[in-house]
Amino acid sequence: MWKSKLLEFVKPFTHPAWGITHFKRVYELAIKLVEKQNLDVDRDLLFAAAYLHDIGAFEPYRQKGKDHSDVAIENCSEILLSMDFPEVKIDLVKDIIKSHMFHVKPSDVKESIIFHDADTLDFMGTIGISRILAIVGIEDWTPDLKSAIFLIQKFHDELPLQLYTPIAKEIGIERTQEMKIFLDNLAQQTNNFELI
Ligand SMILES: [Fe+2]
Ligand SMILES: [Fe+2]
Repeated sequence: MWKSKLLEFVKPFTHPAWGITHFKRVYELAIKLVEKQNLDVDRDLLFAAAYLHDIGAFEPYRQKGKDHSDVAIENCSEILLSMDFPEVKIDLVKDIIKSHMFHVKPSDVKESIIFHDADTLDFMGTIGISRILAIVGIEDWTPDLKSAIFLIQKFHDELPLQLYTPIAKEIGIERTQEMKIFLDNLAQQTNNFELI
């Protein structure tokens, strides 16, 4: 029941890079990582975190100068309790949200490690490229196309090192290869990025 309430709650959070479609992809990818590794995890934690981890990037939660993960942590209890989500599980949802970003090392809670890897993988490969190109000119990360291409290059170089589970590392190799092909072709067609 809380799941359908949560899905209803997140409906307004649309965004080309970190809206509901991203929430759903991360959940599905996290489940894929769990199943491929035969892990015994609490899927409710992954579901709740998937749909709430980035709400700090949206109005009315967004706070200038404050990390979106911290904002989500501050607000998730009230939201989840209003939906009859089990109170005893909320601290674990917070733990997942705290380390969801690629640059934050997860705790040893297995749901947190899985979720971190799923969110990081969504910044990689063809989907990662698509998301970054979708926010050119609309988010601080990517004021223009050139900055977006350099961000894709940076993610290509650095994100494989931010994955922790063996299966995520495997998927990461494929996605890094997709980014490499894109970057190599683009370099060739733009005089080594000069003509972007
Ligand atoms: Fe995030
Ligand atoms: Fe995210």
